[in-house]
Amino acid sequence: MTPFKMHGTHILSTGSAVPDICISNDLLSNIIDTSDTWISTRTGIKERRILDNNQSIIDLARIASDEALIKGLIKAEDLDLILFATSTPNDLFGSASQLQKSLGATKAAAFDITAACSGFVIGLIVAQQFIQTGTYKNILIVGADTLSQWVDWSDRTTCILFGDGAGAAILQPSRQNDLMSFELNTDGSESHQLSIQHQENSSSIDYKNLNFSAQKISKYKYLTMNGKEVYKFAVSKVPESINKCLQTSQLKTNQITWLLLHQANQRILDTVSQKLQIPTEKVLSNIQCYGNTSAASIPIALNEAFNTGHICHKDIIAIAGFGAGLTWGSILIQWNAIE
Ligand code: UT7
Repeated sequence: MTPFKMHGTHILSTGSAVPDICISNDLLSNIIDTSDTWISTRTGIKERRILDNNQSIIDLARIASDEALIKGLIKAEDLDLILFATSTPNDLFGSASQLQKSLGATKAAAFDITAACSGFVIGLIVAQQFIQTGTYKNILIVGADTLSQWVDWSDRTTCILFGDGAGAAILQPSRQNDLMSFELNTDGSESHQLSIQHQENSSSIDYKNLNFSAQKISKYKYLTMNGKEVYKFAVSKVPESINKCLQTSQLKTNQITWLLLHQANQRILDTVSQKLQIPTEKVLSNIQCYGNTSAASIPIALNEAFNTGHICHKDIIAIAGFGAGLTWGSILIQWNAIE
């Protein structure tokens, strides 16, 4: 029997995209009872990008993916797998295939990962399994969400938080391993704290002759969130999760070069970094420009950090996603510039 060989995983390149339409806090305060001061001090958000009717989540995902493909010098035809982390798909059966078509990635298998704000972290981990085992060589992971289409724009407790966007990364096998350790969790008993549920009893179809009736679901409610509970969950579980990863990799907190958390609220970023005793200058944050872009928030921030030269050879990046599910998880990366 051929000995089973494990491969290292390398982050080859990244990309990101946000829509052109920019909604500032001031603009929002013209339509709902809020203010720039309230939003800025409670969340750190100044503006967010919103998709218009002429663009779809696939267009955003395509732009982000193209950037990653160009930077990685990879042709779409050479992709083996596309993982599309989104909770706002175009099609309930999954949107990854639409992205595969748009990119012309004819050889790639493609499927969705539905895990809201943890989706991209889960995508990285899933991709790593395929690379480690030697199953696939070129994997594209996209985190994209358009929650602007799912929030109630008259509900000031939620609509001020979210924005639309997409981020992408290409992973390849390598001799050195960028993905050092990971840790994943789910607590389904708290799923009601943040959800988009279908309308109950939308209508039902009675199949009298067959002796059963089926519920016909054609509508979903707006996003609902218990902000306080989700906040408490994030600031207690995320530091724990990162500490577990550090332990697995036998690293100390002070060895982290960058802390990259899901961009949900600047106060969450501040509290988590304080709990971990990571100084502010090591915390990557772009929340003021985009708000909470769900599965896109981590890859957008990661791409910006690469593009601005913040991330250098051998830097250690602690990444954590958290949100609906409730799901949360971390991944520790030591990025190797050259294989
Ligand atoms: O990606 C998924 C992860 N999601 C999160 O991580 C979200 C976590 N939660 C949060 O970020 C925060 O809980 C929020 C930003 C959502 C809310 O901040 P908060 O400090 O928990 O505010 P609150 O809900 O306790 O509201 C305080 C007050 C309330 O008024 P009263 O009852 O004290 O009179 C709200 O009605 O602020 C009021 N309020 C607002 N006022 C102006 C709520 N939203 C607004 C608003 N503008 N947009």
